[in-house]
Amino acid sequence: VQRFNVVVLGAGGVGKSALTFRFAKNSFNELYNPTTEETYCRDIFLNGERYAMEIVDTAGAEQFTELNEQYVRAAHGFVLVFSLTYQASLREIDDIRKQVSRVKGANADTPIIVVGTKLDLVHEREVTRDKIRQLVNKWGITFYETSAKQNWHISDVFQDLLAQMRDR
Ligand code: GTP
Ligand code: MG
Repeated sequence: VQRFNVVVLGAGGVGKSALTFRFAKNSFNELYNPTTEETYCRDIFLNGERYAMEIVDTAGAEQFTELNEQYVRAAHGFVLVFSLTYQASLREIDDIRKQVSRVKGANADTPIIVVGTKLDLVHEREVTRDKIRQLVNKWGITFYETSAKQNWHISDVFQDLLAQMRDR
């Protein structure tokens, strides 16, 4: 089967692991356990065809390390994650996207999806949909608002990314 490498990037604590874990294992953990680096594999279907998705769940991206750069180079697609409950994490993905395109160079058109997490924490929400639109429209990419806890729109993210990677 065709295999796609996906890298999940974003600030610390925004919910990268929760998103990845919900998709890969259909499970959610309330406890915060900072990631060093974790890889998950899951089969995923598109129009009846089976694909293998390998997902690298990275550490909070303040340290855009040598290691991260290796994954970025090998990636067929990216999920850039911020928390809807933390304004500064949205600004950070602007930065991360720039680093990604620097590392990708000629392959700068690699598919990217932006994900706002913790949609279930309605009373803690800090980021308006308009703010997200302003950012992603500038890049011409799609975004999703998700909850790993409630399993809202998680599979949409990876299905959309798969479709974009396959059609590229
Ligand atoms: P690092 O690995 O340190 O970069 O963090 P991370 O981005 O992987 O964050 P992680 O997935 O570990 O989530 C951080 C905290 O937020 C944990 O306590 C999660 O349970 C919580 N969390 C993540 N996603 C959601 C969500 O959709 N809803 C709610 N209510 N909590 C969430
Ligand atoms: Mg993590």
